Amino acid sequence: MTAIWAHRGASAYAPENTLPAFALAEEMGADGIELDVQLSADGEVVVIHDETLDRTTNATGAVAGRTLAELRTLDASFGQPDFRGTGIPSLADVLDLVKPGRMSVNVELKTSVEFYPGIEKAALDVIAASGLGERVIVSSFNHYTLKTVQQIAPEIRIGLLFSEPLYLPWEYAAEFGAAAIHPHYGFLRIPGAIEYAAVAGIDVNTWTVNSEEHLARVIGMGPAAVITNHPDRGLKIRG
Ligand code: G3P
Ligand code: CA
Repeated sequence: MTAIWAHRGASAYAPENTLPAFALAEEMGADGIELDVQLSADGEVVVIHDETLDRTTNATGAVAGRTLAELRTLDASFGQPDFRGTGIPSLADVLDLVKPGRMSVNVELKTSVEFYPGIEKAALDVIAASGLGERVIVSSFNHYTLKTVQQIAPEIRIGLLFSEPLYLPWEYAAEFGAAAIHPHYGFLRIPGAIEYAAVAGIDVNTWTVNSEEHLARVIGMGPAAVITNHPDRGLKIRG
């Protein structure tokens, strides 16, 4: 059965990549969450999509220019009154929140644009300390980063993110030692893509599918997971 993962939490209904968005995903019954991580000035792994604070908080400038303590105090509520004062969480905060439940956690390392030296080890240390390694899959568009993850923690599952066409990605993934490919759902236009991946032993976890029409179509194709801002819609359609 296709798993439904909440993209940046239940981000259609609560501010993306915040504790309320992840709590809501769980409340809705999502099978997993997806989140993005960067490094703070003091080397802490923090959950935010962009390299800068401008789009999602009441501050500006680089995430890497502030300490975790400073980032926690920012307002990441997008001005939504119900969530006013919600700050940027650390990865450890999110793993603590979801620990009692059963959700999978897709940790996306954001190292494509700005390289954070040591982010792989820092994230893997947090995951190890949480004891949730078996529920985690680490993904990145930066496959060099994922090689580093494999070297440090070969037991952690890897998902290869890509948005451009990739030649026989299931073969590349199998050779890489990845558990999954994480393509944009436009990739599923390739006839038989999910079946080819299955034969190679590779899961397909696809993003970011939001409309009812597209969710119905993509879930009907049977990928391992669909990543969506609307986990409630995905769950209703999947049944
Ligand atoms: O992990 C899937 C998806 O989140 C990748 O794109 O930009 O939303 O992080 P983005
Ligand atoms: Ca992401």
